[in-house]
Amino acid sequence: MEDSLDKLVESMQSEINWGFSDVTKDHAMNPRNIGTLDHPDGFSVYKGPCGDTMEISIRVEEGIITEAMFWTDGCGSSIASGSMTTVMAKGKTLDDALKIDQLEVLEALQGLPRENVHCALLSSKTLHMAISDFREKEIRESGRSA
Ligand code: FES
Repeated sequence: MEDSLDKLVESMQSEINWGFSDVTKDHAMNPRNIGTLDHPDGFSVYKGPCGDTMEISIRVEEGIITEAMFWTDGCGSSIASGSMTTVMAKGKTLDDALKIDQLEVLEALQGLPRENVHCALLSSKTLHMAISDFREKEIRESGRSA
């Protein structure tokens, strides 16, 4: 009886783990940069076609992203994607951070199951929108001071 229970638990665990790399599992279970920055320089909220939402807030100093945080109500893959995206964005220039796309996030996570690849699009798109928000604010402020 105990033996068959162990087998059931083992098969459930392998099903849960199926298709997720160790990197993805690590970022999903121990997300980096989770939360929202106080008074961010750039901020975005995006709801993906799956209905899940992500927020990204960034701090920018002299054109470099010094801090990036995310929040999501989505699945474990979206947590891993937001975590990885913010890790990748920190320390990059705005132009280099704009090069972080779905494919780069997927590569950094060593892949996601096919039904979850859109989670990496959710996080990369939300990052791009936070950068746009920062740039729009900068343009508005330079117009005011001109
Ligand atoms: S973000 Fe919607 S399923 Fe992952």
